[in-house]
Amino acid sequence: MTDPKGDRTTERPGAQVSDLRELGPAASGTRSPIDARALDRLYQLAIDLPVDEGTARVVQVFLDGLAPLLPRLALGVCVVDPAQGEQLVELRLPEGVEAGTGHDPSRLFPKMSHEEITQLSDPLLGSTFHVGSDDATRANVLTEPVLGRALPLLEANIKRARALERKAQGAAALKRLQAQVIQTEKLASLGQIVAGVVHELNNPLTSIVAYADYLKRRLEAREDSIDDVERARRIGEAAQRILRFSRDLVAYARPSADVPAPVEVHEVIDKALVFCEHELGKAGVHVERRWHPNLPSVLGIGGQLAQVFVNLFTNASHAMVGRGGALVVTTAFDPSAGRVTITVDDDGTGIDPADLTQIFEPFFTTKTEGRGTGLGLSIVRDIVAAHGGKVSATSTVGVGTTFVVDLPAAAHRSSTRPPRA
Ligand SMILES: Nc1ncnc2c1ncn2[C@@H]1O[C@H](COP(=O)(O)OP(=O)(O)OP(=O)(O)O)[C@@H](O)[C@H]1O
Ligand SMILES: [Mg+2]
Repeated sequence: MTDPKGDRTTERPGAQVSDLRELGPAASGTRSPIDARALDRLYQLAIDLPVDEGTARVVQVFLDGLAPLLPRLALGVCVVDPAQGEQLVELRLPEGVEAGTGHDPSRLFPKMSHEEITQLSDPLLGSTFHVGSDDATRANVLTEPVLGRALPLLEANIKRARALERKAQGAAALKRLQAQVIQTEKLASLGQIVAGVVHELNNPLTSIVAYADYLKRRLEAREDSIDDVERARRIGEAAQRILRFSRDLVAYARPSADVPAPVEVHEVIDKALVFCEHELGKAGVHVERRWHPNLPSVLGIGGQLAQVFVNLFTNASHAMVGRGGALVVTTAFDPSAGRVTITVDDDGTGIDPADLTQIFEPFFTTKTEGRGTGLGLSIVRDIVAAHGGKVSATSTVGVGTTFVVDLPAAAHRSSTRPPRA
């Protein structure tokens, strides 16, 4: 709707751009003829405009109030909000007139012979007010004085409605943020509780492992107990697995040490996959590892890098719930650049192009309340950046998503400064 050159007075074929305020009392300095009835209606309109119900309602009530005063004119308002990327168009047409469509996108009434377009002023630039008529003299004597008074009313009330909308959005965002901080704090204390639980499990598990081993060796001495040897072996193995898992879990939950060391990327990925086993299994995901045969280590903090992959794998499994599919983790090394890349590819729902630009922003989530804080990928980005790397995503809706984590190989890191996420 804006004039490409931003010129408020440019004329277009069939459409005339003007500033109606110049027709009003303030600009002319003389009182324009307007009857008391019309003034009363305008006064009532100013009272009725519901600024607390949003811009759209302001525009609707404004046009509803104005249309009876100017019965032979078509009236239209087009409000653009670049911050929200929205455009709102509202029309009031005299009886027997159709809106129709035309070649000139700036016109709201292409079927009428005249259309006067007024640009609203800053900060509503780009928004326009339209008066359509089949008569160049603009239908009746009241038109100009009424519009001259009404237009500032419209502008002032849209601005007020917008300010209230922004305030409400800010309050809602703050409330969401508070809920997320509470949830994050809850998770942090859960980490401490887990560490305590695992500590308590350690002693009995160590006993189970030791006694299972003792029984196995005793049974091995007897010829008739091959099956029992196998059972004892399985008890020992299962207990070992729980022990390993719980120790890794504590290492993961513990705040990261600040000392970077060479980290075996495949080991870290395997650990993260074990943590996500339950989520991946629930979503029916099949995991495929495509490992580089001689992947160099990276210099970093293992716990933080595990967090990167836990986040990526959890997101992938959420995206594959009810669909199943494969999670393919591929590692590669580019010796000339000295970079290690890890590609995480899923067959999930994919990400809408509009969302793809926002997924690394803190608190951006499409998950329902309680299911996601929207912090996962922002933490991923920060950790990877602290390790001198980059993370990027590509996605096709309905097909799947690919995340690529690119890290400098240990021997190639230019600085030995500890990464701080
Ligand atoms: N593999 C994926 N497939 C589809 N969408 C994804 C994928 N990974 C991320 N997303 C989208 O990106 C959004 C942000 O992800 P992010 O991990 O930052 O937060 P979250 O998973 O919503 O919450 P949490 O803080 O619990 O991780 C998700 O809500 C989801 O919409
Ligand atoms: Mg996540």
